[in-house]
Amino acid sequence: MSDSKRKKCNILTLNKYKQEKTNAVMVTAYDFPQAQLAQQAGVDMILVGDSLGMTTLGHESTIPVTMDEMISHCKAVKRGADKTFLIGDMPFLSYQASDEDAVRNAGRFIQAGMDCIKLEGVAESRIKAISDAGIMVMGHLGLTPQSQAKLGGHRVQGKTKESFREILDQARRVQEAGCSFLLLEAMPVEPARMIAEELDIPVYGIGAGNETDGQLVILHDLIGMFFEFKPRFAKRYCEAGKLIREALEDYCSEVRDGSFPSEEHFYAPLEDF
Ligand code: KIV
Repeated sequence: MSDSKRKKCNILTLNKYKQEKTNAVMVTAYDFPQAQLAQQAGVDMILVGDSLGMTTLGHESTIPVTMDEMISHCKAVKRGADKTFLIGDMPFLSYQASDEDAVRNAGRFIQAGMDCIKLEGVAESRIKAISDAGIMVMGHLGLTPQSQAKLGGHRVQGKTKESFREILDQARRVQEAGCSFLLLEAMPVEPARMIAEELDIPVYGIGAGNETDGQLVILHDLIGMFFEFKPRFAKRYCEAGKLIREALEDYCSEVRDGSFPSEEHFYAPLEDF
């Protein structure tokens, strides 16, 4: 379907998907062309994740990412994907300090064109305040990268019954506080399935098996553009990084041997010189 005829994906679409057991497709995107490609491919949701700190800005973690950086990337994504459900990821310290900070910063994401914000952890008071301000919230439980030091690193969560019960309890609490969606990161299949089944809101997974209400993959993992490490749960659908490097190598050698630019790339003069 052409983009102009396509209906914008919204919370009603996503709730219906859950009822009908249709898997929702979410991917991260951080700029205009990535958003255009994701929308053209037909994804339902784009997360402008603070993972851009690592995939795009070259930081070692998501911690240094600022609100201003997030807003700039969100605006670019919005320009590229106006029919896709857009989620802005609240960066570290944009909501941890107070409900007021949380509402004000969540509002900036909405002004930048996002449909929803995502925040990590069991921040019930923040979730309630943002949701009471009329802004949709996606919770994020399991492995929560902004507090990875407290979790002892990037570790799979919910592997024991006790840890599963804790995450299930957290999931119930964030739903009760006003989350419209929940994302589970890095969990075994069965506990993630049980949480998705237990909650009324759509529950998506990244590295949480295939029994949630939909999947998120980080774009750079999916297309082979992140070179530091490859998470076990990510499937690489192409090697865009390799393709780009080879193109650049060809460019380097053609400039050096004088075969580029050639006549087809020259401008024709209007008269002889
Ligand atoms: O920033 C992000 O892309 C995320 C995912 C890792 C869940 O929060």
